Amino acid sequence: DLGGHDTYMHKEISEQADAVDRALRGRIDDRFSTVHLGGLNLDAREARGVRRVKILGCGTSYHAGQIGAQMIEELARIPSDAEPASEFRYRDPVVDPDTLYVAVSQSGETYDVLAAVQELKRKGARVLGLVNVVGSAIARETDGGIYVHAGPEVCVVSTKCFTNMVVSFALLALHLGRIRDLSVADGKRIIDGLRKLPGQIDEILKGEEEIKKLSAAYADAKSMMFIGRVRGYPVAREASLKLKEVSYIHAEAYPASELKHGPLALIEPAMPTVAIVPDDDLLEKNRAALEEIKARSGRILAVAHQEQEKADHTIIVPKNEPELDPILMGIPLQLLAYHTALALGRDIDKPRNLAKSVTVE
Ligand code: F6R
Repeated sequence: DLGGHDTYMHKEISEQADAVDRALRGRIDDRFSTVHLGGLNLDAREARGVRRVKILGCGTSYHAGQIGAQMIEELARIPSDAEPASEFRYRDPVVDPDTLYVAVSQSGETYDVLAAVQELKRKGARVLGLVNVVGSAIARETDGGIYVHAGPEVCVVSTKCFTNMVVSFALLALHLGRIRDLSVADGKRIIDGLRKLPGQIDEILKGEEEIKKLSAAYADAKSMMFIGRVRGYPVAREASLKLKEVSYIHAEAYPASELKHGPLALIEPAMPTVAIVPDDDLLEKNRAALEEIKARSGRILAVAHQEQEKADHTIIVPKNEPELDPILMGIPLQLLAYHTALALGRDIDKPRNLAKSVTVE
């Protein structure tokens, strides 16, 4: 049931405030400035013993994992990283008993992720799942985990589930942080930020008409560059994947800091750049990257907390806590991908060559 929307992608983008609300519901504990994650199956002693976190997923779920790894490292101070499950499986990885593995998947059926989980379990590792579909194969194979509660996602490309995965990683990071050394004050700060998310998502979605106009200005591009730095980089990667999948426009994502090490050679008027520019302590560095692009006559669309002078257009998003900003900054770019694909007449809910769940190798 499309409920008045013309595609599932549009419906699912529009449902994100409710979806995030569902992910938070019943989990916040104001008394101890933490969250309860019922199915985690990891007691405080075990949580304190974790030395590393390794997150495994594919595609969009891998990008959610990259943001999640940064959140866990920032809030729980545990070294963390994400890797495509499909790569991890084949490189004979060292499996370490003090590492907490987290498998992230919308469908819970992606073969590469499932096979990575099975290999880890065979080697005696502790694996949690961060999954949308209840009772799916990955949910069953893992030792415990978090359901992301995005609700059914029908469109082949993932939008609301990505957002809920990132929110669920924020919950995990807060939970691990509060068991370890995150202060009550910081716990409370993050909880206040989480509670603001649904309202802020609706605020972003109200800007759809403006984003639609912008997409008309960029739909003629043959190729687009997406850049971000640290927290903004996985946001740029996910936005670039979304644009590719639904519009078939070629897109590259780079850390803004890497531009001068090669990709700057691509910048010219026919290669527009989408830049993620949060108002954090890297703002000046990001502005310098915009200047370098402008000096090569590149067109710039910034997603930022305030108007960017060097950009041709700025989409302003509401500010949250810096650790949670990545949750919001990708949302206008889902709409950008959607409206670009619509303008180009693409089959939005079923892009060519793609399947909703990849259950083969
Ligand atoms: C992107 C997309 C794919 C999936 C990937 C993993 O929009 O839909 O990249 O994210 O195939 O799927 P799940 O999350 O079901 O494991």
